[in-house]
Amino acid sequence: MIAPLVVVHGGAGRIAAERQPRIALACRDAARCGLDVLRGGGAVLDAVQAAARVLEDCPELNAGVGAVLSREGTVELDAALMDGATRRIGAIAAVPDLRQPIDLARRVLDDGEHVLLAGPAAWAFAAEHGIAPVDPARLITLRSRARLAEERARRAGVVAPIESLEPTEPAVGDDREHEGGTIGAVAVDAAGRVAAATSTGGIAYKRPGRVGDTPLPGCGTWADDHAAASATGDGEAIIRVTLTRVVADRIAAGASPADAARGAVAELARFGGSGGVICVDRAGRMAAWHDTDTMPVAAATLIDGEVRTAAWAAPRTIDDLAAALAAAPA
Ligand code: GLY
Repeated sequence: MIAPLVVVHGGAGRIAAERQPRIALACRDAARCGLDVLRGGGAVLDAVQAAARVLEDCPELNAGVGAVLSREGTVELDAALMDGATRRIGAIAAVPDLRQPIDLARRVLDDGEHVLLAGPAAWAFAAEHGIAPVDPARLITLRSRARLAEERARRAGVVAPIESLEPTEPAVGDDREHEGGTIGAVAVDAAGRVAAATSTGGIAYKRPGRVGDTPLPGCGTWADDHAAASATGDGEAIIRVTLTRVVADRIAAGASPADAARGAVAELARFGGSGGVICVDRAGRMAAWHDTDTMPVAAATLIDGEVRTAAWAAPRTIDDLAAALAAAPA
């Protein structure tokens, strides 16, 4: 029997120290929420969806509420979730103005006709399934406005950010996901079934219509018989690496989740990118690895029937994650 386990991330990047406690709390809540689903007899797919919903509602993170803005000031969302045992996957790409993008991805998965729906045209499918877009004002935060303003200023050659919530933090250096904020969850249940979910607003100042790695199977999100993984970071590089599929394939070939995660993330540099990944395997092992400054991670499991949760701002010592979880207070 495997201890049910849910692991979540809040995006690879560089998060200012004062924001880290708020994000850690949201990650811990999300992992706990996913574990509660498993404890209640829910499926791994339900667990990762529940965890992702919590993180999409956290305005500190780049998904749902708080998602970054395109260069036109619009909110366009990518999300996916995948069930390892059946390889069912549902994904949405560049769909505007959804509060819980992962819910629409789930409807795509349950409907089963297609794997991926893109753009505003997906609103018609959403309406058929009881999901309506929200006023973008409910999703756009001061932070997302400031990020866009900084990026516009940087590209216009203005040295100092014209409006910044974090003047002590370096301005966004290019059009990558430097603050992090993509969210993801992976889960394994007592029978060794796994699932993954990922959700993001993409990269600040993206072109409208740009789609990153998150909704693409094997890139930002993957689950199969052996493992589930959720990636974060520079989407274009992650796509070239097919990061989450590489992680799962390495685990299937006998690598530990720790070695698989570390090795796959190392491939990003070849394509000029950086990022991170979380994964679980069917034996109930987990890993998280990133080559960025921070990647908030939290995990929740049962040890001797007691719920244990732990959170890390920048887990580098991946071999110690499970030990830290075991040592967490009940
Ligand atoms: N990793 C998120 C993105 O590039 O869209």
